[in-house]
Amino acid sequence: MVARRPKSKAEIRREQMLAAVNYPLDWLEERSGLVGGVKYFLFRNVPSDTNWMQTLGSATLTAFIVQAVTGVILAMYYKPSPHDAYSSIQNITDHVTLGWLVRGMHKWGASVFIILMFLHMGRVFLFGAYKYPRELNWIVGVLLLTMGMAEGFTGYLLPWDQTAYWASVVGINLNGTGPFVGPFLAQFLRGGQEIGANTLSIFYSIHMLLIPGAIIGLITLHLYLVVRLGVSSPPWSKEAAGEERPTAEPPIRAGLTRPVARGTGGSQ
Ligand code: HEM
Repeated sequence: MVARRPKSKAEIRREQMLAAVNYPLDWLEERSGLVGGVKYFLFRNVPSDTNWMQTLGSATLTAFIVQAVTGVILAMYYKPSPHDAYSSIQNITDHVTLGWLVRGMHKWGASVFIILMFLHMGRVFLFGAYKYPRELNWIVGVLLLTMGMAEGFTGYLLPWDQTAYWASVVGINLNGTGPFVGPFLAQFLRGGQEIGANTLSIFYSIHMLLIPGAIIGLITLHLYLVVRLGVSSPPWSKEAAGEERPTAEPPIRAGLTRPVARGTGGSQ
C-alpha cells in the first residue's frame, strides 16, 4: 500500500473553499436541475469554424439587457403626465446622480440595439442560416425586429417635447392610413380623438410593460431554438461540406491556449 502524503494547509483550505462554493450550487442542482441546464447552454458544442460575425446575436442580446437595466432606472424618476414628463426628464439629466449617463445610454443604446439587430439579421441572411431547419427562428427574429422598432417609436414620445410630440403625430397619422385596421389603430394609440394625456399613458405602458415582456418571451424562444437546432456553420465551411477534421492538431504554444500541468515543461 502506498502511503499518502499528508495534505498541506493550502490544499485543505482550497478543498474547504471549493466545498463552500459548491454547496449552494449542489443544493440548487439537486432540487431544480438548473445548474446542469446553464452548464449545457454555456458549454455546448458549436462548429469549430464558427465566425466572429456569429457573435452579433449575443451583441444584440447585450444591447437589449443594457436597455432593460437603464430603462428600469429611468422609470424610477420619470413621470408619465403631460404636465410633469418634460420636467422629470430635465431632472434626470441635470440633478439625479449619473442620470445624464443612464439617460444617454438608454437613448443612444436604442439606436445601437436596432443597428445590431439589422447587422445580425444581415449575417443570418448572408450565411443562409434562415434555411431549413431554422425558418421558425427567422420568423421569431422578424417579430423581434418589429417589436424593437415599436419600442423605439413608443419611447420617442416620452420626453414630451416638441420633437417627440410632432414625431408621434406623424407616426400615428401614418398608422391611421393603413387599410382596414389603420383608423382603429390610430384611435387606440391616441387614446381618443387627439394626442394628449391618454396617449402618453398608453405609449408609456406599451413601452415599458407590453413590448419588453413580449421581447423577453421571444428572446427566450429564440435562444431555445438556437440551442435546440445548433449554430450553423459559415457557408464556406469545408467541415459542413463533409470534409473530415484534421486529426493532428495544429501546433500551439502549450499552456497558452491549452492548459498544461505546472512543471511538465509544456511538451506534448
Ligand atoms: C432582440 C433581437 C435578437 C437577439 C437578442 C438575437 C440573438 C441571437 C443569438 C444569441 C443567436 C446565436 C448566435 C448568432 O448566430 O449570432 C441568434 C441566432 C439566430 N438569429 Fe437572432 N437575435 C435577435 C434578432 C434576430 C432577427 C431580427 C433575426 C432575423 C430576422 C434573427 C434570426 C436568427 C437566426 C435565423 C438565428 C440562427 C442562426 C444560426 O444558427 O446560424 N435574430 N440570435
